[in-house]
Amino acid sequence: MKILIATEKPFAAAAVNGMKDIAEKAGHEVRLLEKYDSPEKLVKTVADADALIVRSDKVTPEVIAAAANLKIVVRAGAGYDNINLDACTSRNIVVMNTPGQNSNAVAELAIAMMIYMSRNKFTPGTGSEIKGKKLGIQAYGNVGKLVAQKARCLGMEVMAFDPYVPAEKMKEDGVVPAGSLEEMYRECNFISLHIPATPETRKSIGYNLITLMPSGGCLLNTARKEIINEAELEKALTDRPDLKYITDIAADCQAELDEKFGKRVFATPKKMGAETAEANINAGLAAASQIVDFFATGNTRFQVNK
Ligand code: 3PG
Repeated sequence: MKILIATEKPFAAAAVNGMKDIAEKAGHEVRLLEKYDSPEKLVKTVADADALIVRSDKVTPEVIAAAANLKIVVRAGAGYDNINLDACTSRNIVVMNTPGQNSNAVAELAIAMMIYMSRNKFTPGTGSEIKGKKLGIQAYGNVGKLVAQKARCLGMEVMAFDPYVPAEKMKEDGVVPAGSLEEMYRECNFISLHIPATPETRKSIGYNLITLMPSGGCLLNTARKEIINEAELEKALTDRPDLKYITDIAADCQAELDEKFGKRVFATPKKMGAETAEANINAGLAAASQIVDFFATGNTRFQVNK
């Protein structure tokens, strides 16, 4: 089978070598499309692929229509909002992700970003410590759990809100289950977002929630930009000159936010949560193995469009 690895943001070389190794040992052929600068290039290259591995690359109905042989798409990562599931499902194309494989990298970045903002973006002046501060985790999944664990080691108090996770599970980890989202925003100095981008969550973080945060509160987004109501975020930062926003996924209006709020906002230049060799290797190798297994045995364990 022909496997196309299409990554606008390439994997580390060690990950690519490992993926090739797994696929070629099983008798598959691997082709690489990296750092491509237009969606048309993916449309063109996918034409004879039986399997596709992507990261945040957009798998649009046009990509699917151009891929006559395609049987499986694996998102080497967690969030699959970049893949048009309807287009895949209507062609019986299996879509999978590789949950948990890059979570530690994202969690480490979340902690680093909290410290960076607490120390005035590493510029001179008096900062503050995260020890003793309260952190609220919105969605207690693979990343949320790791952020909680690391934050507790650094002496933070951790709360979490997740309607899909029993309170007992959080308590076992030393995390306080929040009775409501509002309660968590009201009580926490930092809120770390870990919800996926879905029709329900899009633009769900807005003025009313953000302005519940206590004085000096800092909202941290290593999830998706789509979950933020940007106009309302801007209004919240305007009305509350004590609040801060840090993100790994620059807002559409980021230039405006930077100009208006300066030191109180920060965005990484390009999403880098999962940009570690370890995360690339874990997610990349998992993606290749899942494809090999799918073709060999029909295993669809990580299918997200069942
Ligand atoms: C994910 O959903 O797995 C993360 O957001 C990482 O995305 P990336 O592979 O584009 O870095």
